[in-house]
Amino acid sequence: MKDFITIEGCEGVGKSTQIDILKQYCADNGIPVLFTREPGGSRVAEKIRDIILDADNVEICDMCEAFLYASSRVQHLEEIIIPALNSGKKVICDRFVDSSYAYQGIARGLGLDRVKRLNQLAIGEYMPQYTIFLDLSPRKAFDRKGGADIHDRLETQDLRFHERVYEGYQLLIANEPDRFIIIDASGTIEQVHEQIIAQCKDRGIL
Ligand code: TMP
Repeated sequence: MKDFITIEGCEGVGKSTQIDILKQYCADNGIPVLFTREPGGSRVAEKIRDIILDADNVEICDMCEAFLYASSRVQHLEEIIIPALNSGKKVICDRFVDSSYAYQGIARGLGLDRVKRLNQLAIGEYMPQYTIFLDLSPRKAFDRKGGADIHDRLETQDLRFHERVYEGYQLLIANEPDRFIIIDASGTIEQVHEQIIAQCKDRGIL
């Protein structure tokens, strides 16, 4: 969908920082953009987010989680994203359906096809026009954080999960190379920001 841009990446890649700077850049340059995020982005969708992210809800099964993300998504689309696009704004969304593909479909092992099918009902024609992928492997993001002890069993399991998420994104990028804008996220905050601006300008996004 034209003017609908999403930003994706593994945890710890500096996504929130870059979105804050991009928001400021758009404000400074008078570019009308609605910034929003998933899971959440609207009152009801935020309530669904709370259910998903509540650490007490240990019994939520993987498929239920996938449906909850899709439920949050359809509410967010109807209430926030579609009206903004219809009013002529660009929309930049922090995570969207590719997160479900990478996290639930691939890393959790539900299967990409299954997660695609269930999300198709939620998003219809609202696939992002472009997806900015902040590219930094979990290992590098982990090391950049100061490298928690990777011999710690839990941390190691966590790292493996995030490596599967990263491999998932690589598969999605290979399947749709023209939709993804790959940004090398290993540089300084300023270097990463400049790459984002340059690539977005090249494609007429900003
Ligand atoms: P955040 O770290 O960007 O706030 O995202 C919250 C978490 O939700 C993050 O671990 C990724 C996860 N997530 C999914 O697993 N599936 C999804 O569809 C979305 C939108 C997020």
